[in-house]
Amino acid sequence: MDKLNLAVLYGGKSGEHEVSRRSAASVLRQLDRDRYAVTAIGIDRSGAWHLQPEPVFETLANGDPALVIVPSDQPVAIVPAAGLWHGGARLAVDCVFPVLHGSHGEDGKLQGALDTAGLAYVGAGVLGSSAAMDKAVAKSLWRDAGLPVVDFRVVGAGAGPDVLAEALQAFGWPLFVKPCSAGSSLGASRANTAAELEAALAEALRHDTRALIEPCLDVRELECSVLGNEEITVFPPGEIVPNASHSFYDYEAKYADPDGASLHAVAQIDARLQQSIMDLARAAYAAVRCEGLGRVDFFLDKKTGRLFLNEINTLPGFTSISMYPRMCAAGGLDYAELLDRLIRLALQRGPGLAI
Ligand SMILES: Nc1ncnc2c1ncn2[C@@H]1O[C@H](COP(=O)(O)OP(=O)(O)O)[C@@H](O)[C@H]1O
Ligand SMILES: [Mg+2]
Repeated sequence: MDKLNLAVLYGGKSGEHEVSRRSAASVLRQLDRDRYAVTAIGIDRSGAWHLQPEPVFETLANGDPALVIVPSDQPVAIVPAAGLWHGGARLAVDCVFPVLHGSHGEDGKLQGALDTAGLAYVGAGVLGSSAAMDKAVAKSLWRDAGLPVVDFRVVGAGAGPDVLAEALQAFGWPLFVKPCSAGSSLGASRANTAAELEAALAEALRHDTRALIEPCLDVRELECSVLGNEEITVFPPGEIVPNASHSFYDYEAKYADPDGASLHAVAQIDARLQQSIMDLARAAYAAVRCEGLGRVDFFLDKKTGRLFLNEINTLPGFTSISMYPRMCAAGGLDYAELLDRLIRLALQRGPGLAI
């Protein structure tokens, strides 16, 4: 059987560069080399693409494996209607797997470039990626579709005191502030006072030009793996329980503190709640035009018992301990099989120029 030529992209310009290198290490370890001829391409923090003749692994300070980006003088070029090139030769690529999180990888920009180059790729297309990346856009689409979201206001750098006063009047303290487009909790914080709100906004606006202000809820955090193009598979939800030493599921709890959170691949919830979450996940995935894969995240308000959609990640964390692959595995699809399914879904949709 001929091997499929798979280009794996990792690293990238976003704040989630390092997480991507960890995800890519897992993906490369799990890909069946009898089926795939893998070309690894590391994207450095400036956005330059480096061909990796042989993928190089390192072990990070916390013990996690990560893929190294070995610099090369010759950049990889992405060429309209002609795929990927290096050193004057076209690279053999049947499918691209962008193992990238956040801006410039998960937000539709790369997807548009891959479409223009005529390459098939894993994950959502331009519209689904960009709609999902911007939390204000995703939440507006969900609200329009009649799906439950935590109420919010969108503010930019010029937000006057009246806008903030209105948000406060509507929601009361504490408030939660986060960038519209970011991830890994970067730029997210809660605010209990006017001074904290000012600082929270300044921090959020370091990551994006617009920020969301929401009521800060006391929540259980539940999430669901979803897979598919037109035909969608939803896996039973899992739950993340941040350690009490973190006031919410912040960056440190996610990646730096080994005891930052307990990740339960299967949430301990009753059958009715499980079904509601899975139904909502399916509707949310379709409403933002997601394709390939998506992790739909929920809040369950501890006070009222109400369930809300929080966000959808179109290229969620993919390390061996990440929730997306673990929830799929708990639902019967192990990591290596999951990679096969994602690549099949990418090929089924085909390269952008073919549509
Ligand atoms: N309205 C809110 N109330 C309470 N906590 C929140 C709220 N919004 C976000 N959080 C906390 O911040 C974390 C990160 O926010 P999220 O919207 O998931 O953005 P990111 O894309 O950075 O993961 C959530 O997992 C949750 O712990
Ligand atoms: Mg999140």
